[in-house]
Amino acid sequence: MNAAAPEGSRSEAVAIAAERRWALVVGAILLLLVAMMVVTGLHWAAMPPSRVETVDVKTLHIAGEFIESNLGTAVGADGKVTVRLIAQQYSFQPQCLVVPVDTPVTFRATSTDAIHGFIIGTTNANTMLVPGFVSTFTTSFHNTGEALMPCHEYCGTGHEAMWAHVQVLSAADFLAKSRGVERLSCVAR
Ligand code: CUA
Repeated sequence: MNAAAPEGSRSEAVAIAAERRWALVVGAILLLLVAMMVVTGLHWAAMPPSRVETVDVKTLHIAGEFIESNLGTAVGADGKVTVRLIAQQYSFQPQCLVVPVDTPVTFRATSTDAIHGFIIGTTNANTMLVPGFVSTFTTSFHNTGEALMPCHEYCGTGHEAMWAHVQVLSAADFLAKSRGVERLSCVAR
């Protein structure tokens, strides 16, 4: 009976020490998380990502890269394939894209109004389109045929009806189609 009191206060001391240790661990984790937020925040504020490209929504249809006659697939003098398109409520322009199979294709796209986006079939071609910014990525398509390209960002009442087609052609077919053509698309005219 005599030993009960010291035993009890000893176990209480052990519990307090353990609680203090865990409080220190939790405090240290919180400090680390806050420090990470501060450091990354300051870093991003001081050095914005170098790849951000902006475009003026009010004038992009009048001049520059995204005028109507420059949209579609372009084959550069160096053989590089670039697809330019714009998204608007509720369509893509061009509505039908042509790309060669097994060839790196660079997409450059933007939106004129709301936030849109697209994904091409089951490929990894997938991006958001934000007004005022140029989205760009390079990918290759490994299967010929036609793929659907729906808008995948809810952009208003016509969102479900907003999609384009992509035709992936063999190298020979693509070459034949693109010969002598400055901007290629499969839009029926
Ligand atoms: Cu455009 Cu959804």
